[in-house]
Amino acid sequence: MSLEKMKDLQLNEESPKPETKEINGILMTKIISDNWDKIWNFQAKPDDLLIATYAKAGTTWTQEIVDMIQNDGNVEKCQRANTFDRHPFIDHIAEGICMTSHYFPGLDLAIKMPSPRTLKTHLPVQMLPPSFWTQNSKIIYVARNAKDCLVSYYHFSRMNKMLPDPGTLEEYIEEFMNGRVLWGSWYDHVKGWWDAKEKHPILYLFYEDMKENPKREIQKILKFLEKDLAEETLNKIIYHTSFDIMKENPMANYTTLPTSIMDHSISPFMRKGMPGDWKNHFTVAQNEKFDEDYKKKMIGTTLTFRTEI
Ligand code: A3P
Repeated sequence: MSLEKMKDLQLNEESPKPETKEINGILMTKIISDNWDKIWNFQAKPDDLLIATYAKAGTTWTQEIVDMIQNDGNVEKCQRANTFDRHPFIDHIAEGICMTSHYFPGLDLAIKMPSPRTLKTHLPVQMLPPSFWTQNSKIIYVARNAKDCLVSYYHFSRMNKMLPDPGTLEEYIEEFMNGRVLWGSWYDHVKGWWDAKEKHPILYLFYEDMKENPKREIQKILKFLEKDLAEETLNKIIYHTSFDIMKENPMANYTTLPTSIMDHSISPFMRKGMPGDWKNHFTVAQNEKFDEDYKKKMIGTTLTFRTEI
């Protein structure tokens, strides 16, 4: 059988949910944990730009904004490839069917990519490959409030065959609060990166601020990247990276992946794109329990979030 035929067959089959295994106390897929050394030894370069987030915090949105900035607002150039091929996901390794698609060997893609590279990670700060610190690479971190992150991650785990089964929302809320989800605790993630910005060039942004005033937040990115763009180009970027436009952009909405990997009929990748959607999901009791626990976990930090705008 030809390789192409084999790939087709594999891609059309239903993918099994992945096995998980902790690495340094953080839940990851088994294949990532088993290949951890390869990620840890990744060689960053001084002109790399890293987009770091907790999963579902607005990574893809930020990637599109950054790509538009880097390409001076040229929409055609930004449609040259899928988001995941434009900006390799360095902490992503998958096996089996996954190795047949460009999406999966994010780490290998990053290694092969010519500079200057824009890369993506969901790693908690203590697990970032040390070369990013020694090379002083610029990092944009985007944070999103815990409840909306949770709801978005829950639906994403339902439709994405590369993530463990989330169970019911009730069960998932418990797992999320205990940090028993891939890439670990939301609380430690946002706090860890918040502290890291004191010692490293990190632009720390919030999803809610981006939604409230995209122009202001894009201007912060421009300043951080030391770029200057005409007002007209800036307005074009705001338009092109709005939720409604990105939802229809196959190079940004993950619909080019086979349904055996992401099934958008279960829940679309570009789902709601709104702060406060958690209110449509949490019961009063779940919300009270979550808030109580949240206070304990976030005690002592200056970091605050808005759960609606
Ligand atoms: P929802 O599931 O709440 O809709 P990530 O890229 O980190 O996986 O984050 C995905 C989340 O960001 C999804 O949230 C998605 O809808 C939202 N998103 C993607 N593009 C967006 C945009 N242009 N504006 C607002 N939200 C966006």
